Amino acid sequence: MDWWLTQLEWRVIDVRGVSKTFSFENQPTLALSPTDLKISTGSFVSLVGPSGCGKTTLLNMIAGLIEPTQGSIVQDDQIVSGINTRVGYMTQQDNLLPWRTTAENVAMPLLIQGHSMASAKHRVTEMLQRVGIERFANHFPSQLSGGMRKRASLAQVLVYDPQTILMDEPFGALDAQLKVSMQMQLLSLWENAGKTIVFVTHDLTEAILLSDQVVVFSGRPGQIKDIVSIDLPRPRDPIKGQFNTQFQMIYQNLWEMLAPDIARLAKVEAS
Ligand SMILES: Nc1ncnc2c1ncn2[C@@H]1O[C@H](COP(=O)(O)OP(=O)(O)O)[C@@H](O)[C@H]1O
Ligand SMILES: [Mg+2]
Repeated sequence: MDWWLTQLEWRVIDVRGVSKTFSFENQPTLALSPTDLKISTGSFVSLVGPSGCGKTTLLNMIAGLIEPTQGSIVQDDQIVSGINTRVGYMTQQDNLLPWRTTAENVAMPLLIQGHSMASAKHRVTEMLQRVGIERFANHFPSQLSGGMRKRASLAQVLVYDPQTILMDEPFGALDAQLKVSMQMQLLSLWENAGKTIVFVTHDLTEAILLSDQVVVFSGRPGQIKDIVSIDLPRPRDPIKGQFNTQFQMIYQNLWEMLAPDIARLAKVEAS
């Protein structure tokens, strides 16, 4: 086999028989059933499924923040053990420190690695420009809108150039227009940077318009129901893309897969 193909084959995130059981007040809860999943380098993969099916738990395990109960996660031929420094993680709640400016917050990962603010400055400015908030470099997080905070968090993840970016419902709380604008920006970043993105969302439209593959989880204990390849042409337009028949067929298929679990969840929550 060609050397380059061998490298591509090797460069994956390989989730091998990974499950997670949490214990709460001595009651074990299986949050994620044994799961196998391969995410190829450079792909955009979304995880969808009803609330509580273990999506965040899986991202936390890929990031090395928690350990699998069974199985292992291998990235680039190395087992993830402890904090995985090859991934950048945009968690659901941002980690911006209120007493630091946007630029200082974005610089934080570099400062932790031992760089000085002076040596980090150039890179930080470049990242702020890339996400379009360079004018807000000296503002504090409380002075930023929701969208700007998301951009600052993305810049904070991009600043140390991780190969893989994990994003947990990053645009969930944004209004519709802002969401589309963030999606466009993310797609263009991804197309230009060759990163792998693992993206958790509740929004099926968003999952289809952004992804190469959508991984559908069933309700708790989560397990993979199906992996749907999204063969819509790229570059994609998050607005016009929704009016295409192929998009609508994929949407309907995904919705039908998720509907029984969502209905079950509604019954449990009502009882
Ligand atoms: N630290 C924890 N301790 C106990 N249970 C947890 C913990 N984290 C998550 N869980 C449980 O694991 C299940 C999956 O949670 P999570 O991964 O957050 O789901 P999702 O992100 O798909 O909504 C839920 O039932 C949740 O209550
Ligand atoms: Mg979650």
